[in-house]
Amino acid sequence: MQTSLLKAEGLEKSFLEGNKETFVLRDISVSFSQEKTYGITGVSGTGKSTFIQLLAGLDAPTSGTVSFNDQLLNKMTPQEHERFLQKNVGLIFQLPYLIKELSVLENSMLPAIIAGASEQEARDTALTLLDQVGLSDKIDACPASLSGGQQARVALARALANRPAFLLADEPTGNLDEQTGKEIISILLSLQKEWGMGLIISTHDSYVAEAMEIRYRLHDGFIEPRD
Ligand SMILES: Nc1ncnc2c1ncn2[C@@H]1O[C@H](COP(=O)(O)OP(=O)(O)OP(=O)(O)O)[C@@H](O)[C@H]1O
Ligand SMILES: [Mg+2]
Repeated sequence: MQTSLLKAEGLEKSFLEGNKETFVLRDISVSFSQEKTYGITGVSGTGKSTFIQLLAGLDAPTSGTVSFNDQLLNKMTPQEHERFLQKNVGLIFQLPYLIKELSVLENSMLPAIIAGASEQEARDTALTLLDQVGLSDKIDACPASLSGGQQARVALARALANRPAFLLADEPTGNLDEQTGKEIISILLSLQKEWGMGLIISTHDSYVAEAMEIRYRLHDGFIEPRD
């Protein structure tokens, strides 16, 4: 299997506040390899979420590029970008954003259905993932009846539905107690090993950062390696 590479080069992002241009990210160049785990830390407002969004191509950089296996995200057609998101990137946001009208199982089946899998395939995959995240007994529940940690697990199963090359997670443990957060990270790490999936996690939690092989810190718009 090819080892995929997600690469930022000279990435900059600024926002206009009135007439003033404020840079959130400056000249960020970093390569993320599949089969490795990365933690991105930085105090609130340093651009972690902005960086994750840029890596997924959900937002456009002010300058610089993001590429996936040498294919530039900003040169992809909307269809190519959609396919990239479906096949190669799983996303976890700080809030689970589950669809409240759908059951746990249906929420978890959705990405595979959208990517063109049959209902049976999508169901089988979702059932396996929900079992791996410890939610086999909740498949028919509606999201609102779940605890925060259980909702985070559904979001995890959903992000993994198409076996992405990379999982990008923006503070996946941000709203969880330490015990539940540790369980989520341990599930992620074991799936990461089993599948050889790249893991890029932004986090405030030192136990999450410490569980990653490679750590970076965002500071004053720049990225730097940290211990
Ligand atoms: N759409 C936008 N318009 C203007 N400014 C923005 C926009 N999005 C983000 N910013 C600014 O960019 C900076 C970085 O925001 P970002 O959400 O990436 O930080 P963060 O490191 O994820 O913070 P937190 O740890 O609180 O989640 C903040 O100062 C924010 O106000
Ligand atoms: Mg954030």
